[in-house]
Amino acid sequence: MNTENVTIILAAGKSTRMKSSLPKALHPIAGRTMLGHVLSTVASLENSSPVLVIGPGMETVADHAREWVPAIATAIQQNQRGTGDAVKAALLAIASKAGVALIVFGDTPLVRHETLSDMIKACTGNTAVVVLGFVSANPAPYGRLVLDAQKNLTKIVEAKDATPEEFAIDLCNGGAMAIRIEHLASLLDKLSDGNKAGEFYLTDVVAHARAAQLGCTVVIAPEADIQGVNSRADLSAVEAEMQRRLRAKVMADGVTLSDPDTIYLSADTVIGQDVTIGQNVVIANGVTIASGAVIKPFTHLEGATIAEGALIGPFARIRPGSEIGRDVHIGNFVETKKAKIETGAKVNHLTYIGDARIGERANIGAGTITCNYDGFNKHFTDIGKGAFIGSNSSLVAPVKIGDGAYTGSGSVITKDVAPDALAVERNKQFEKAGWAAGFRARFQHLKKAPK
Ligand code: UD1
Ligand code: CA
Repeated sequence: MNTENVTIILAAGKSTRMKSSLPKALHPIAGRTMLGHVLSTVASLENSSPVLVIGPGMETVADHAREWVPAIATAIQQNQRGTGDAVKAALLAIASKAGVALIVFGDTPLVRHETLSDMIKACTGNTAVVVLGFVSANPAPYGRLVLDAQKNLTKIVEAKDATPEEFAIDLCNGGAMAIRIEHLASLLDKLSDGNKAGEFYLTDVVAHARAAQLGCTVVIAPEADIQGVNSRADLSAVEAEMQRRLRAKVMADGVTLSDPDTIYLSADTVIGQDVTIGQNVVIANGVTIASGAVIKPFTHLEGATIAEGALIGPFARIRPGSEIGRDVHIGNFVETKKAKIETGAKVNHLTYIGDARIGERANIGAGTITCNYDGFNKHFTDIGKGAFIGSNSSLVAPVKIGDGAYTGSGSVITKDVAPDALAVERNKQFEKAGWAAGFRARFQHLKKAPK
């Protein structure tokens, strides 16, 4: 008999309050979609395979889910008739005959793995239903958990359907639920839409389970973990909480954040020990920073690796495909893209390095530009180790500067430069003695007298 656990992820809701052409589950939090967060949280639950419930026409959501879990099962809920109806839609995709069906929402990305794991563990023996509960400072919109005198969960009432006494309860339904698969179909069969919303509420399974002498219990989590996203305002609140978590995690791992509230991390950011990050730094997706690197204020990084001891910023922009080597210095107003900058090289001021390699200990002068794009194709600039690029050089790619070569300041370099050579491309300077003094004397009469 198949006794595998399943995780049912509900993402079929219409989410009208988001006012977006993008399905709600695909909105990003810390650079990762909400659905991506949920899938990565449930991925590590033991012995559990996921089933994603989406609405008709939400194929982009299924495609995205397959990037996380290639073999994920999907179910279509034809009409959005409530959370109970959505779980029913998943039944056909469930082969398992026993075990735990864990139901989570695609719009609640802060729920923790440990909490879900506790719910699965509690859903055993006669305990057929485990509800995720939380005590809310502002319970108004949530379903309320109604307990009997022995503190056993007897039912859940939606806010809309609550009596004044029930409305006063501050113990709320967090949405996620674990249900024994043996009882799942029969409990769902008992749901009706006879309520204020005219929906099949998943929450009604509690009362039906109790009526069938089955046990129901609650696993409590902090309110911050339960925050769901129904609107853009919720999205920003969940982003803020996710950022708090990511910052706390890297600080616990030995990273100094000079002013944590101004530093933005991504869900996939990897930072080594003894890295220091200054104020107002944004780390977008795909960044790895090795031990001892220093990221100075107002720097933006994305899709880049930063090696040990590198010094980046202030005001640097490190774009995708940048590989910043050991002890490299990247200074203010420097932009790098698809660039390999090798050990000890320096690119300190006002420079664009794109589609390029910069060899070990090369020095790139202020205002250097790799001219990598001709309107159709990108071309490569290769700068050898120990080369010295004079300030304000334009390196018109494809071009190769040999090891140890120099380019004169202000040169437009269009041909390869041999190792250890000097290439200068600019007009000879000429001088007219006394010209400036003569010029001033000629026009002196136009100058207004000071008042
Ligand atoms: C739900 C709970 C409520 C709880 C709250 C916590 C029910 C009836 N109510 O209310 O007790 O306090 O979550 O946040 O369960 N969905 C579908 N198909 C549908 C309807 C919804 O897939 O037909 C999905 C949504 O995409 C969403 C999730 O289910 O991911 C929750 O739906 P939502 O309408 O947001 O439920 P709430 O009103 O927040
Ligand atoms: Ca919701």
